[in-house]
Amino acid sequence: MWSPGILLLALQAIGGAAELASSPEVLPSPKGSGKGIWKTAYAKAQKLVDEFTLEEKVNVTRGFTADNVCAGNTGTVPRLGWPGLCLHDAGNGVRATDLVNSYPSALHSGASWDKNLTYQRGLYMGKEFKAKGVNVLLGPNAGPLGRTPLGGRNWEGFSVDPYLSGQLCAESIIGHQDAGVIANVKHLIGNEQETFRRPYFGVEAASSNIDDKTLHELYLWPFVDSVRAGVASVMCSYNRINNTYGCENSKLMNGVLKSELSFDGFVLLDWNAPHTLESANAGLDMVMPQGGSFGENLTQAVANGSVSESRVTDMATRIVAAWYLTDQDIDFPVPGIGMQNLTLPHKQVDARIPESRPVILEGAIAGHVLVKNENNTLPFRKNPKMLSVFGYDATVPATKNTDKLFELGYTSSPAMGQAVLGTEEHFDQAAKGGTIVSGGRAAANSPPYISDPLGALQHRAAKDGSWVNWDLTSFDPGVNAASDVCLVFINAIATEGWDRDGLHDDFSDGLVLNVASKCANTIVIIHAAGIRLVDQWIEHPNVTATIIAHLPGQDSGQALVKLLYGEASFSGKLPYTLAKNETDYDPYGPCGRAPDDPNPQCDFTEGVYVDYRAFDARKITPRYEFGFGLSYTTFEYSSLAVKVERASTSDIWQTLATVKATVTNTGAVRGEEVAQLYVAIPNSPPKQLRGFEKVVLDKGEAAEIQFDLTQRDFSVWDVVQQQWVLQSGNYTIFVGASSRDLPLSETFDV
Ligand code: NOJ
Repeated sequence: MWSPGILLLALQAIGGAAELASSPEVLPSPKGSGKGIWKTAYAKAQKLVDEFTLEEKVNVTRGFTADNVCAGNTGTVPRLGWPGLCLHDAGNGVRATDLVNSYPSALHSGASWDKNLTYQRGLYMGKEFKAKGVNVLLGPNAGPLGRTPLGGRNWEGFSVDPYLSGQLCAESIIGHQDAGVIANVKHLIGNEQETFRRPYFGVEAASSNIDDKTLHELYLWPFVDSVRAGVASVMCSYNRINNTYGCENSKLMNGVLKSELSFDGFVLLDWNAPHTLESANAGLDMVMPQGGSFGENLTQAVANGSVSESRVTDMATRIVAAWYLTDQDIDFPVPGIGMQNLTLPHKQVDARIPESRPVILEGAIAGHVLVKNENNTLPFRKNPKMLSVFGYDATVPATKNTDKLFELGYTSSPAMGQAVLGTEEHFDQAAKGGTIVSGGRAAANSPPYISDPLGALQHRAAKDGSWVNWDLTSFDPGVNAASDVCLVFINAIATEGWDRDGLHDDFSDGLVLNVASKCANTIVIIHAAGIRLVDQWIEHPNVTATIIAHLPGQDSGQALVKLLYGEASFSGKLPYTLAKNETDYDPYGPCGRAPDDPNPQCDFTEGVYVDYRAFDARKITPRYEFGFGLSYTTFEYSSLAVKVERASTSDIWQTLATVKATVTNTGAVRGEEVAQLYVAIPNSPPKQLRGFEKVVLDKGEAAEIQFDLTQRDFSVWDVVQQQWVLQSGNYTIFVGASSRDLPLSETFDV
């Protein structure tokens, strides 16, 4: 529908800060319809909620303290046997508890480009949340998407590309909910930086001023995929969007999420995010961790008519329906049963099951990206006799601790090897206390063990009789001249709460150069919670191989050793662009504010031109492009066939094109390839990812890969018509190995 308000919104947001962007009011809040997969769950929920008193309905929508460390607990309705919900984080596994696994981070899974492994990760992680009595798993994270490469939480998401993020969010959600827990996609929306993410001493949170087209084509895209995958809850964000707080934003919650996307689940407040009673009318359904504005006041608001009882009924129904949707009425432990305070006597609830082990190891292997491999340095052709290991990231930190202590204000979290926090504004770029297998805070968890690189190499040495030297502290270490190989381990850390200081640090770069100056076969391994530049040393002739090892979870070292020795093959590809210089990214840093300005504005004037969309349009050559990653074998692409169907006038989800291509393993060993499909749409970035498939091929083997592209994949968001439209014009489909290695293409007209 054309609406002057919406057009104005788009124009204002594009216009920038001179005229502040504004978010129109969209009322009333749509009632959950209980369509599709929600049908039975809604019927059951309506029946139960019908029996709730107003106070009981209100209790379901808010948090209470409970005798556990769940990030949040709702009220209960014991009279009718409704046990309430424990809500808890997230990304790497169950947070702040013991006897759980630490999975690869989302960024690492993004680098695997593996839908099946991502589903398995979601499933097994979900089973652990269930075993611990966590009803709502506070993930996956689709926002931040990664507008600024310095974003402190980018590693919590799969990729800066909305298509890759959307596909892997969907797999995760299905996995979590198949395991019987409620997934929660977050943070809706524009939560693109940690700087000014919340109001602070009279300064408002940053306003992400996003025009309607950019919202739909970039930031909302993965949320759409999440809703289609059946996600049962969505978390609204701390920041403002077009000058209205995320959790007060009726345009986004009522308008976009609940009307346009017909979302039938519940919207959850990010912890203590700004909100008022009016937020209930704006579409907010649950407040955490305590009652906030809702508390007792929601009951009063009904009495004085400012919130209708039917809205409160809808809120409770959406929440209880999510519980039924995931079969939590049939078989679910007591909420929070395994989430006792670890410093008090507590029962051991072991959430780990043997079936998850191969998924964790495979996942760890799959997210390593080999970006340089001169003269097939890797895999080691014969087992090296002498290995020399350098760098603070090679081994475990001195103490094992839980991430919860980190958040409670301790200056380091040795279990995660996180950097030492300085002042609130400062966060070291590298975590020099030990290897990192995760970033910090909400998505971190405590691993049962860490297979660290040095430990895993030593283990290997014990088996095959090699000799290992190590010096993990010197900046300019001595190198035994008989070394067959030198391995330098560095990292780049990031955490919720702080944006990063930069994309590389002098200490780590200097260390690499110092080792490379003395060792002709220097291999650099970077554990990275985001983009980490390599240009200070990547062309050094003695740097023979480089691995972006991301954040592998507990099996880090074991995965790496398998890759180095060729017992596993590299199949990861970069889920972002790795530039030569910081200045190649625009936007680069988080939005700031003028001194004394209490109203920080962040105009997303670049529109959808973020990461490779911007590099392609501005013809900037990256160091390693989006989608790039080497393998131990080689692949050839051939036989592109594109079949275009007739366009539909109403259904964006119908198949518009079926694309087939053949991939052949032309090298000497078995390997996995991620075949990627990009589309050039008129009046849009030069190319955008719209398909990917990972295939395993024996030496000499070929496989035909099929991509089914929907009409949405070719459409643009029309801000006047308020819908996706297929423009008439010329479209090109590209298929290949990365965003800049696309040997196959075909052009057609619509
Ligand atoms: C705030 C974070 O932004 C959110 O992602 C997390 O789920 C909650 N805290 C609960 O810990």
